[in-house]
Amino acid sequence: MIRAEGMLKEGALKGKNILVTGGGTGLGKSMGEYFLELGANLVITSRKIDVLQETAKEMMAAKGGKVIPIACDVRDIDQVEAMWKEAKAALGEIHVVLNNAAGNFISPTERLSTNAFNTVLDIVLKGTSQVTLTAGKDWINSKQPGTFLNIVTTYAWTGSGYVVPSAAAKAGVLAMTRSLAVEWAKYGIRSNAIAPGPFPTEGAWSRLLPGDLLKKFDPAKKVPVGRVGEHQELANIAAYLVSDYSSYVNGEVVTIDGGEWLKGAGEFNNLDAIPQEMWDMMEASRGKKQ
Ligand code: HXC
Ligand code: NAP
Repeated sequence: MIRAEGMLKEGALKGKNILVTGGGTGLGKSMGEYFLELGANLVITSRKIDVLQETAKEMMAAKGGKVIPIACDVRDIDQVEAMWKEAKAALGEIHVVLNNAAGNFISPTERLSTNAFNTVLDIVLKGTSQVTLTAGKDWINSKQPGTFLNIVTTYAWTGSGYVVPSAAAKAGVLAMTRSLAVEWAKYGIRSNAIAPGPFPTEGAWSRLLPGDLLKKFDPAKKVPVGRVGEHQELANIAAYLVSDYSSYVNGEVVTIDGGEWLKGAGEFNNLDAIPQEMWDMMEASRGKKQ
């Protein structure tokens, strides 16, 4: 199937050193793996060093190149600054930052403790801003261009019940992406975002569709194209947005959700549920010739 294939030409990311937060699992791992295949070297970072080390080993065995695992909780600025220093010591300069780390779970908002709400805000919004500021200040001081790619989701602009801290934080990340795209373009720094719809990962599925919720709320049923996303489809867009092929793309958010959020938004989209026979009857009752 062509959608499961890499899209960019061989060597498209050669010479790029790319930092992926949350790069040990899920979508961060899949995007990183494709960057590696295209010739980039990687730093993957998150809290769990054992997971990162395992992923790094696996990726290098599969694709070659260099993958440096560094433990860092993005909520802690001291850890972020130390991680950035270590990343540069390992690879020289870092050219691209993929802000992908996130925390999330479903809950009625009134049931959330202050700490629960803040935990998600801190990982998603504060974590992203701390990594962005650390990298951005360094790039500006050393007069080095750079590229940010931030993973948000479509409820960054629609909002969504039951994931309110995540929605608030992702909206903040999207605003930051668009703001810095303008403010930091003069330094040669681009900022873009991707808004994925449902892509199966252990991290997301276990927290957003726990127990038998997956059976009750099959995410594919909400998507007009009738399926969830494949990781390579996302990796293709990510690779393009961090490559020099997208040099004129700045401040953009690319949605990849099979039309999911628009389906929820369009006033009459649920008329899909009306069978053809009923349309026939309605047509007949207004006197149209068959
Ligand atoms: C209510 C919860 C909760 C839950 C934790 N808490 N889970 N409250 N419902 N399901 C509360 C805890 O009781 C605690 O509050 C506070 O949150 C912090 O919990 P900890 O477990 O101490 O936090 P921590 O160990 O830092 O873990 C962070 C986490 C965890 C976010 C809670 O789930 C995590 O590590 N997530 C990382 C990966 C992840 O979430 N991936 C999915 C991304 S998917 P109290 O008051 O008790 O101290 C995604 C998809 C978006 O973003 C779009 C899909 C279409
Ligand atoms: P995932 O595998 O759980 O990825 C989240 C990553 O973030 C993990 O590797 C985790 O590693 C890391 N992380 C969490 N807290 C951290 C912290 N405090 N500091 C540093 N790293 C931290 O889930 P995923 O589905 O691949 O999600 C990846 C991104 O895609 C997220 O931004 C998510 O919001 C977005 N997204 C996913 C979907 C989907 O359907 N899957 C849809 C829309 C958007 P550690 O536990 O080791 O820290």
